[in-house]
Amino acid sequence: MGQNNQMNKNFLTLFLLLSLIAVGPAIFSEEAQANGMSYEQKLQACGTCHGADGDKPLAPDYPILAGQHEDYLANSLKAYKDGRRKHPIMNVQVQVLDLSDADISRLSSYFSKKPGLRGLGE
Ligand code: HEC
Repeated sequence: MGQNNQMNKNFLTLFLLLSLIAVGPAIFSEEAQANGMSYEQKLQACGTCHGADGDKPLAPDYPILAGQHEDYLANSLKAYKDGRRKHPIMNVQVQVLDLSDADISRLSSYFSKKPGLRGLGE
């Protein structure tokens, strides 16, 4: 029992540490406050993980946004925002960056128009 609790605590600490590291680029970037961040600053934050054009993800398990369908990107972001889609990093990103519906449309349109996955299977 006691050992289990300790393990849970260790896991929790590790989890919190990992999420902090992962979220670091957005939280500790120059403009720390989500409110008042311009669209360009939000776009830049996405770029730290997905690549400025959405085609150079930081890690292999970070998805390529470039060239994905605009609707798909927008729906994914809305799903992260209202919790239908769960991922420790993205759920925090949409909150920290305070993405509005307008931001979501603009970002989705931006990344969907970049060359990337587009062309696959066409
Ligand atoms: C700290 C790193 C990080 C930042 C910053 C970040 N993302 Fe992500 N993003 C991820 C990871 C990791 C995933 C994979 C999550 C999953 O598997 O559900 C993801 C998933 C996504 C997806 C779903 C893609 C798919 O193929 O299903 C979209 C859309 C997305 N991010 C858009 C954005 C946008 C737009 C921004 C900026 C507002 C942003 N992300 C900022 C790490 C990040």
